[in-house]
Amino acid sequence: MINKICGEAMKKMRMLSTATQGAIILFAFLVALLPWGCQASVQQTQGKPALDVPYEPTSNTITQEMLRIANVTSADVVYDLGCGDGRIVIMAAKERKARGVGVDLDPARIRESKENAKSAGVTHLVQFIEQNLFDTNISDATVIMLYLWPEVNLKLRPKLLRELRPGTRIVSHSHTMGDWKPESETKVEGHYLYFFIVPANSTGTWRLTGPDLSNPASLRLTQKFQMIQGSMSSGPGAYPVMNGRLKGSSIRFVIERMVQGVKEIRLFEGNISGNVIVGTVKNQMGNTVSAWKAIRDAATAVPIAE
Ligand SMILES: C[S@@+](CC[C@H](N)C(=O)[O-])C[C@H]1O[C@@H](n2cnc3c(N)ncnc32)[C@H](O)[C@@H]1O
Repeated sequence: MINKICGEAMKKMRMLSTATQGAIILFAFLVALLPWGCQASVQQTQGKPALDVPYEPTSNTITQEMLRIANVTSADVVYDLGCGDGRIVIMAAKERKARGVGVDLDPARIRESKENAKSAGVTHLVQFIEQNLFDTNISDATVIMLYLWPEVNLKLRPKLLRELRPGTRIVSHSHTMGDWKPESETKVEGHYLYFFIVPANSTGTWRLTGPDLSNPASLRLTQKFQMIQGSMSSGPGAYPVMNGRLKGSSIRFVIERMVQGVKEIRLFEGNISGNVIVGTVKNQMGNTVSAWKAIRDAATAVPIAE
């Protein structure tokens, strides 16, 4: 019976023109694709965005600790990149009077955040934006809160270093930033919280002046996140930069040199503002022995974001 039906169908097919046969094959192909097409549109109509990290809220105790670690005050603008139900920026606003911006790709989370901010009475301090965190302008943040995944932190790291001002504090719940060493690690409820401070860019060649140095002196610096290396040339001598570190725009390093057979240790401390460093030089007793100033050849600076 089946053979008979198939045979009849084949006979009818042969009777059709080649163009009509082609049209039938194309139609069958499109029908076969229909389930995938339907799936895609269902996803769209359900408004399910492609999240980099699924939703999981930070506990209230850990949220409190994140605010404490970043020392959030009313002078701060706190961003939570992937803000979930908005709890971190809402607590920052409620308990510390900080302004806040929560960003989440999931519209349901943004709706929840707005409702929660209303219930907490902080809508005048906080703002919630439905947006991909990688597309968000974060340049006015003074504090960044993160509860993402390790690989997402790594993907975000260049943006943080490029767009945030030196001194901006970052607290990451559970995950590190690869080889960017944190300023501190704190364990709460079995979870690690990592604290980072965005460093200024100290790279390049600086011309130094200061009464304690043979003039002109020059300082060449390279930098990996907040750690700096390099050398200082003063007169005929060249001395390695030791224990070099940045904390935001504050810079410090040690120079050792022999002066008439005696080792002289000098701690250079200063503040970087663009292409100028102004600071003081201390001796090993911690007494200030002179002021120093350095001016960078702007063309020698290299980007620190990687
Ligand atoms: C682990 S939850 C953290 C929620 C909140 N920060 C907290 O600590 O309670 C991660 C959040 O990131 C959001 N998310 C994931 N990928 C995102 C992206 N590319 N842009 C913005 N938000 C994203 C998710 O919707 C989710 O709400």
